[in-house]
Amino acid sequence: MQIANMNEITLVLLKPDCLAKRHCGDVIKRFEQAGLEIVGCKMMFLSEQLLAEHYAHILDKPFYPDVQAFMQSSPTIAIALSGENAVALVRELMGPTDPLKAVPGTIRRDFGEDVKSNIVHGSDSPENALAELKRFFSDDELFTTSLKR
Ligand code: TYD
Ligand code: MG
Repeated sequence: MQIANMNEITLVLLKPDCLAKRHCGDVIKRFEQAGLEIVGCKMMFLSEQLLAEHYAHILDKPFYPDVQAFMQSSPTIAIALSGENAVALVRELMGPTDPLKAVPGTIRRDFGEDVKSNIVHGSDSPENALAELKRFFSDDELFTTSLKR
């Protein structure tokens, strides 16, 4: 990976409900206002295979077919975010998986609908973030920083 700075990087996916509800700007704004910086961004239709890898931990769950159908109901937007403690910070800003269990002010509570239609994905550990970034971005699609210093 091209990136070798002190900042942690995490993967965010803006899910189909986020695009359908026109909340992409709102969600990105929350991340930017928390000090995170976009270092990669692209719109992607997620293949069955990529989803099966990304969601390997829920592949055998009865709800997985619904998750797959939902995640393929439109393209998504994949974003690499860089910043201090980026993985935990993104998870905190997102709130828990179920928007109804999330506190007001979190992305999932404010914009999400239910446990499936929960607006956004964020990597859950630095190790998974690295694996996910490799899965979604090639080296030349990630930037050490998007800002000129
Ligand atoms: P998971 O990785 O457990 O949650 P998170 O996105 O908070 O890291 O699950 C991945 C996705 O699977 C979750 O965002 C939405 C979907 N999902 C369901 O549709 N139903 C469920 O009961 C669970 C646990 C997840
Ligand atoms: Mg997860």
